[in-house]
Amino acid sequence: MTSHDADPEETDDGANTTSGGDHAADEGVVRRERFSGGPARAFLSSLAADERIFAADLAVDRAHVVMLAEQGIIGADDAAAILAALDDVEAAGHDALPDGEDVHEAIETAVIDRVGPAGGRMHTARSRNDEVAACIRYRLREDLLATVGTVVEGRETLLDVAAAETGTVMPGYTHRQPAQPTTVAHWVCSYESALARDTDRLLDAYDRVNRSPLGAAAFAGTSFDVDRERAAALLGFDGLVENSMDAASARDFLVESSAAVTGLATTLAGLATDVVEFASDGYVELADDYASTSSIMPQKKNPDTLELVRSRAGDAASGLSGLVTTLTGLPRAYNRDLQRATGHAWEAVDAVHGAVPVAVGAVATAEWPAETLQARAGELADDGGNPGVDAIDEACREVLGEPLDAVTDAAAVEAVLDPVENVAMRDSRGGPAPEAVETHLDRARENLAAHREAAGTRQTHLDDAAETLDAEVANYV
Ligand code: ARG
Repeated sequence: MTSHDADPEETDDGANTTSGGDHAADEGVVRRERFSGGPARAFLSSLAADERIFAADLAVDRAHVVMLAEQGIIGADDAAAILAALDDVEAAGHDALPDGEDVHEAIETAVIDRVGPAGGRMHTARSRNDEVAACIRYRLREDLLATVGTVVEGRETLLDVAAAETGTVMPGYTHRQPAQPTTVAHWVCSYESALARDTDRLLDAYDRVNRSPLGAAAFAGTSFDVDRERAAALLGFDGLVENSMDAASARDFLVESSAAVTGLATTLAGLATDVVEFASDGYVELADDYASTSSIMPQKKNPDTLELVRSRAGDAASGLSGLVTTLTGLPRAYNRDLQRATGHAWEAVDAVHGAVPVAVGAVATAEWPAETLQARAGELADDGGNPGVDAIDEACREVLGEPLDAVTDAAAVEAVLDPVENVAMRDSRGGPAPEAVETHLDRARENLAAHREAAGTRQTHLDDAAETLDAEVANYV
């Protein structure tokens, strides 16, 4: 089990392959002394930011140790001691960790502090490179499912709003110019549809995030007889990131996840802008809970919550942009730049999460003044404003020398010019006519149910894996 993979003095490029003997402890001492301080110490460390993956690292450690023991790479007694120490480390919490370059090193030190040199065997056949990639994926999938959860809930609420407002006629816009009559329901459904695609993208991203890089070691695999599939299954991953160099280095899963949440943030920003403008036009009355006032102009009711929802798209895009900039041009395999990439992805994810319920809540609690909306919609016709039946009749007499009635069915003309009738006529599939919206709502609810189920299946799979891992650990501790 010695002279395996690489230079044992390299912190991560050797997959700590000398572990498994007492040598592991000596090496730990060497590492700790060699890297114990210096002016760059704080600069190098990600320990504080790693709090986000503290729980993930403990799970990854447990799965790895169980797998090592099952493979006979470490003894059951060592596994038992390490797993017990991990419970203790977990109970003490992230803040109690010893100093370290990152959470991976700090937890390992904490384990060694508790069980002695054998604790170092936890890191056998592994590097922090595959470890950190596994931890980020493990944590990110939770965040993605949580975001999907808020979006699914939000969509349900929006569909309820739509169902209640299919008959509420309002002006629709292009170029921010009043264009054609539509309905509040049709407007709401337009955003729910976009949120459904955002959900698709989040779930797609999830499925690529949820693959295990563990066993890649530094990038070049390991000569230990690891069972990568087993470690993956214990962590609820659906299979592997196969190529070990790819597994340790790739962060495209962060890019697509950040892009998916940025897309979601952009959808919400559009909705927020509409509501801000509707509020200014007197087309919507926000509930007090979602409005603020001005300290100097108390008559004002400002749509601040929606402005802040809109601004979150900037935060998300900033995270995405920072991430892509950090990753662009990095060579294979692991580079420490990757440590800074992770935070950008969290920035994008966190920007969006709280915005979903606020945006939806503002819409769900708002009042739509039907009379004002209908009056304003009535000023519109399909082209060039609504002249009214009398004006058209007058024009017929002037130009054709005949009244409107003699030229065509005046009642039909009147109907076109009535906003309610006008909307009812536009009953093509996906159109604003109440019937068309009702049909759309049925389809939208089916799609929503499918998304809810897709998220539920994934969550259950994670919960089951966590239970299995607990049970496996309990066999040792
Ligand atoms: N903390 C690092 C990260 O977030 C993982 C450590 C890998 N370190 C190394 N020297 N190879 O990427």
